[in-house]
Amino acid sequence: SVMREFLHELPKCEHHVHLEGTLEPDLLYPLALRNNVTLPNQFPKTVEELEKRYVMFRDLQDFLDFYYIGCEVLLQEEDFFDLAWAYFKRAHAQGLRHAEVFFDPQSHTPRGVAIETVVAGFKRACQKALDELQVTSKLIMCLLRHLPVEECKATLESSRVLFETQQLHGLGLDSAEQPFPPELFTECYELARQFHPDVKLTAHAGEEGSAKYVSNALDLLQVTRIDHGVRSVEDPELVARLARDKTMLTICPLSSLKLQVVKDISDLPLTQLLEAGVPFSINSDDPAYFGGYILDNYVAVQKKFNWDAATWAKVARQAIEGSWCDGKRKDELL
Ligand code: ADE
Ligand code: ZN
Repeated sequence: SVMREFLHELPKCEHHVHLEGTLEPDLLYPLALRNNVTLPNQFPKTVEELEKRYVMFRDLQDFLDFYYIGCEVLLQEEDFFDLAWAYFKRAHAQGLRHAEVFFDPQSHTPRGVAIETVVAGFKRACQKALDELQVTSKLIMCLLRHLPVEECKATLESSRVLFETQQLHGLGLDSAEQPFPPELFTECYELARQFHPDVKLTAHAGEEGSAKYVSNALDLLQVTRIDHGVRSVEDPELVARLARDKTMLTICPLSSLKLQVVKDISDLPLTQLLEAGVPFSINSDDPAYFGGYILDNYVAVQKKFNWDAATWAKVARQAIEGSWCDGKRKDELL
């Protein structure tokens, strides 16, 4: 359609995509075979079964239970390369120009996979995306907030060199939001800041958790970006603060729909954020589970919000300006 073509041509940046959440069934089952991994009984046995189960999730935890099982097929450097390269190809086909991608080392290290193996595979895919697709990217390591803080600290320590050498650009916080508030991770974020002065900080907050999770992430973790953050609008002072500081929310429309954070995409507070001057980007989160990559999310928003070209130009510009790439790359994208 004309609308999809218009949105395809916008210079799109993605700031909220979990590489493990891009594991499509057409890679998951072959990797299980290749690595001799037996999936647990409750996991769908066929692509058809899986597609039926993924139509809707009860909530974030219901989804995470599948997501962590999916991770179990990833073992070798080549697996992580294949995963990320498949994502870059799919997202590039939807008009992606720049991506800041999350990964969860703690969803792999319990199987004996070294963080270096994970990062080596991802980095190779990032380089190929640059060489062959002209897509730029940054890696953001996330801590799993449902795990003990001491384990998270140890994971962070074991990634010190990767941060010092800027192979890892940022730190994030994900998994079950409640009852694991941001303040539990204050020391982890302090440690990451000590690794390198340019380490970027973000955290999932205000997805299922309240606006307080967002303000505590800002105050105590000193993040400069908020992942999801849709419940920020419950606190008018917080909205004013986000606007004043130009703190970007990385919103994931199809995710919030499929995780039943909202009943309908039209319930996302996008109009309110635009009017208040809070920047946001539109992202895919876990596209293999939520049924759409970045352009599909743009299209889903347009179907409900029917924005004019000027509004879309503004949304695309804010996503570029909120990116963690250098000024030269931003100028190319603008
Ligand atoms: N891990 C993968 N996707 C996530 C999400 N949307 N929220 C929290 N943790 C996640
Ligand atoms: Zn997420």
